[in-house]
Amino acid sequence: MIIKSTIDRIMEATDIVEVIGEFVQLKKRGANYVGLSPFANERTPSFTVSPAKGIFKDFSTGKGGSAVTFLMELEKFSYPEALKWLAKKYGIEVEETVEAPENREEELRRESLMIVTAYAAKFFHESLLDTDEGKSIGLSYFKERGFSNDIIKKFELGYSPDQWEAFTSSALKQGYKEQFLTDSGLSVKRDNGNLYDRYRGRVMFPIHNFTGRIIAFGGRTLKKDKNVPKYVNSPESEIYHKSNVLYGLYFAKKAIRDEDNCYLVEGYADVLSVAQAGIENVVASSGTSLTVEQIKLISRFTKNITILYDGDAAGIKASLRGLDMILEEGLNVKVVSFPEGHDPDSYVRLVGTAAFKKHIDENKKDFILFKANTLLKDVGNDPIKKAGIIREIVESIAKIPDSIKASVFIKECSYLLQIDERALLSELNKMRQAKAKKDSQQQQSSQSRFAEMPDEPHFFDEPVIISEPVKEESFQEKEIIRLLLLYGSRMIDWDGIANTYIGPFIIAELGDVTFEHAACKMFVELYRAEVENGVLPEDSHFIHHREKSIVDITVDLLTSKYTLSDNWMDMHGILINDETANMKATILGAIFHLKKHKVEKILENLRLELKNADNQADQEILLDKYMRMKKVEKSISDFLGSVIIK
Ligand code: UTP
Ligand code: MN
Repeated sequence: MIIKSTIDRIMEATDIVEVIGEFVQLKKRGANYVGLSPFANERTPSFTVSPAKGIFKDFSTGKGGSAVTFLMELEKFSYPEALKWLAKKYGIEVEETVEAPENREEELRRESLMIVTAYAAKFFHESLLDTDEGKSIGLSYFKERGFSNDIIKKFELGYSPDQWEAFTSSALKQGYKEQFLTDSGLSVKRDNGNLYDRYRGRVMFPIHNFTGRIIAFGGRTLKKDKNVPKYVNSPESEIYHKSNVLYGLYFAKKAIRDEDNCYLVEGYADVLSVAQAGIENVVASSGTSLTVEQIKLISRFTKNITILYDGDAAGIKASLRGLDMILEEGLNVKVVSFPEGHDPDSYVRLVGTAAFKKHIDENKKDFILFKANTLLKDVGNDPIKKAGIIREIVESIAKIPDSIKASVFIKECSYLLQIDERALLSELNKMRQAKAKKDSQQQQSSQSRFAEMPDEPHFFDEPVIISEPVKEESFQEKEIIRLLLLYGSRMIDWDGIANTYIGPFIIAELGDVTFEHAACKMFVELYRAEVENGVLPEDSHFIHHREKSIVDITVDLLTSKYTLSDNWMDMHGILINDETANMKATILGAIFHLKKHKVEKILENLRLELKNADNQADQEILLDKYMRMKKVEKSISDFLGSVIIK
């Protein structure tokens, strides 16, 4: 386990805006920052970060928490993984105690796979740079292709020796378990149970995840033999899901954000050559067709994608339809093609950086127009074919969520296709209506989720109306937690009591009231423990708590205000926005409402017992208890009345 003082240092160093800013484009708004939720597909920002409180809240999914929670949600890190990521970012040394045997198997497995993969990367990298075979075959190949030492080191390129067991036997000698060697795909099991190397005599391109750890490889053959696959890639594993990885993203993400554009290429070599030319905002889908997950990855950093195509017409045409998906995600797509026979890699090497950039600037076309142009070339004078492509293009335009943008494209296409603009528009409207109908059917099921989402971008200090019915009891318990969080460290300023903080006062007043709601109960216990240690716990104590339910309830309560249920309002005329005006009423009101509720429950139980009691003695005892409780109830009611009225 990571020790407390390390955790404290990490929390102190962590700037939540900086951390989240690595994944989400944030804009300052008032005291907070807002952006598009990385957890949902949304067009208006509902994701809010409060630097002052050190928390984020995603109103479209309800997720919220600290920088640590964010990393756990987004990167699927475990709690210690998230802490270690932050420690690495802020240069903090992590001190750990020996872990108690918990159920951490899955995490350990993932970690083990990453460790063995990192070992493999080191093995391949060293055999590229330090062995005769690597130097004469692998390194000379990279040099021939024009890759600099810097690029080779930065991307940790490697070479796998042309032997059956070079890597496997080295790894086994180092003590790596067979199971992790095969699960990571680095080694393959023979029928007789022995392992051999998956990669032999190939140059190796390690694939990094978002956080820079190596999770897979692409290995390119250097042989001309047509029977040998050109690339061998790692299989899917617990650490590598190829549909949500983009080659080069780890190195490109900063430049993508800075340039507000992402270049998308097809191959490993393209990424390396383009990056080497100083254009660092470049990633590759690595041969597979682009997935929605990959587009979402990019859209965390920018809404602008520029696709750099190989100069081969068949490939371009094949991919045109797939790209509608990018439009659907609300991204702006531009397309650049290169002269026949060239890909970005060969072209940038041929013409140099400056001419390459110039080519991009002069040839980049909006995807829709590019598509129209490309398809139009095939049509000739065939009117039926022409009708077909018009439909196809309008279909693409219909995917653009921004209707102003869409109408601009309609105009341009009407010119390009020589078709009346109104005809295109009516076709577009038909498609939109069909889509809207489909969407509304889909949305009906998720209505309740949307009801929670306020329609304006949100500020933490504004009350958020939660429409979902809150159970009266947990509502009252949550109300106590909310007051502890918001006002616990304020001094009491009402008559008769002085020199006391509200937090410890509430804890003392609660006495032995038992909480039903699990997270509330735990929260109060934590708070009480701190108070008993002479500490006044701050928000951060709960925001950074290891227990997720504590973080969740804390963030929920810090970012939303419960509306009082109608009968509360009627009974006592409390307006939520006024709560600080009469702190005495607010605090005592909450405590005594809870107490009253608990007493009512006791009374209800007593009534039941009374009904079931079969001898007079028991009945008398119960009745006596009942009467005393009734008195308590009455005095609480009287007290509530008097406090609230004053
Ligand atoms: P290319 O054939 O264009 O390869 O495939 P390349 O990267 O440009 O390589 P060079 O320039 O010939 O050395 C583009 C991408 O498709 C994937 C790889 O990710 C490659 O980078 N691919 C290609 C495979 O996964 N397997 C293959 O057999 C071929
Ligand atoms: Mn190539």
